[in-house]
Amino acid sequence: MIKVNLENTTIANDVKAFSPEKIAAVHSMIEDKTGLGNDFLGWVDWANTFDKNELAKMKTVAANLRQKIDTLLVVGIGGSYLGARAAEEMIRGLYANDKVELIYVGNTISSTYVQQVSDYLKDKEFGIVNVSKSGTTTEPGIAFRIFKKQLEEKVGKAEAVSRIVAVTDAKKGALKTLADNEGYETFVIPDDIGGRFSVLTPVGIFPLLVAGIDVDAIFSGAKKARNDTKAADLSSNEAYRYAVARYLMNVKQGYKAETLVSYELQMQMFTEWWKQLFGESEGKDGKGLFPTSCVFSTDLHSLGQFIQEGTKNVLFETIIRVKTPQNDLKIPSDADNLDGLNYLTTKTFHEINNIALAGVIDAHANSGKVPNIVLEFDKMDAEMFGYAVTWFMKACAMSGYLLEINPFNQPGVEIYKANMFKLLKKPGY
Ligand code: PA5
Repeated sequence: MIKVNLENTTIANDVKAFSPEKIAAVHSMIEDKTGLGNDFLGWVDWANTFDKNELAKMKTVAANLRQKIDTLLVVGIGGSYLGARAAEEMIRGLYANDKVELIYVGNTISSTYVQQVSDYLKDKEFGIVNVSKSGTTTEPGIAFRIFKKQLEEKVGKAEAVSRIVAVTDAKKGALKTLADNEGYETFVIPDDIGGRFSVLTPVGIFPLLVAGIDVDAIFSGAKKARNDTKAADLSSNEAYRYAVARYLMNVKQGYKAETLVSYELQMQMFTEWWKQLFGESEGKDGKGLFPTSCVFSTDLHSLGQFIQEGTKNVLFETIIRVKTPQNDLKIPSDADNLDGLNYLTTKTFHEINNIALAGVIDAHANSGKVPNIVLEFDKMDAEMFGYAVTWFMKACAMSGYLLEINPFNQPGVEIYKANMFKLLKKPGY
C-alpha cells in the first residue's frame, strides 16, 4: 500500500548496495527486542496482540457516549493527541458530516484558545476523553480541570462521570488516581508503548470510535503493514528502503532536514504526527534529520520559493502521492470562458493535483537540485491510516537504530517538563 520511489534522488544505488548484514542486525534488534530502549517495543506486533476484549469494551463505551453527545473534547498533547487527530482528519476530512465533532484541548497553554473552546461548548452536549500516559503533564492537566468543572456544572456530577473517560497508565500517575477516585471509565496505555508509538492503543482508538470511525479497518491496515515489513530485506521491505534512503541522505550526503509533503489538506495533521515520530525518536546525541512538513500546492505559494532557490544541501523532500482520492470532481465548463479555464474541463481536480506534483518534482529535483523521495500511497482511508502509521513506526525504528541512538526515549522533552515544574514551584521540584 506504500511504494518508495527514489528516481528523483541520487541515493538509489547506495540504497541498493547497503549492507544486508547491517539491515539484518538492526531488524533483529527490533524484532527480538535486543536494542536500546527495548522495553518500548510493544507497538511492533500490536496489530496482532492487542486485547480484543478491551477493544470490545471500548466499542460499547464509545457507542453509549455517542448516544449522549455531539462534541467530544480530546484532552492530550504530543503522542497523547497527534495520532487521533491525524487519523480523524485523514479519514473523515476537515469538515466531517458526522454526529460527533472532535475538539482538541490540552495541547496548548493559550488562555484565549481555552476560553474560546469553553464559550463554544455552552450550547453543546459534550463529553471528555482525557489522555495522558504519565498522568502528570501540565497542559492537559490544567485544561481538564477547566472542562471537567464546566461539564459538572452543566450536567451535574453523576452525568459528568458517565461522560468522562480516562486513558492512562495501568497503575501510576495523577490521572489514574483521579479516575479511580471519581469512577471514570478507564482504558490503559501499555507500559511498553511510548506516546508517539501509541496511536493504535486506546490513546487513538477510543476517540476514533466516538467519532464513528471504522477502527477494524485501521487494524486491518496495521496488520497488512506488519506483514509487509517483516522481512530483513531491502528489496521487499519498503519501510526499510525508506529508512535507509533517509539515513544515507543524512549521513552520506549531509542533508540536515526532511520535509514531508502532502498534496491533501486533510493529511496535514498526519504530517504533524510524523514530525513527532521522527523528531523525538532521532533528535538526540547531536544527530538526526530535522523533520518539517508542507502541504502543496498551498505552500508552493510561500515556502516553494525557498525550496526551489534557497540554501542548498540542507533540505530534501519526501512526497506523499495519494493514488485514489476520497472524492474527485470535474472542472465545470463556462459559456463565456472569461477566466480562460475551459481548456481544463477535460480534467479532474485530482488529475490537475497530480500534474502539479509531477511538475513540482521536476522543478525541485531537476532544476532546484533538491532530492525528492516519493511515497506512493494507494488511497486515504481508515485502512491506509493503520497501514501508514505502522509502516512509518517500523521505518523510524530502523533509521533510529542505524543512527545508533535510542529511538524510544525523549530525554529532551523531559528536561523542559522538569524545568517548567521547577519554575511553577511544583512540590518536589
Ligand atoms: O513523546 C512524548 O512522550 C511526549 O511528547 C508526550 O507524548 C507528551 O508529553 C504527552 O505526555 P503524556 O501522555 O504523559 O501526558
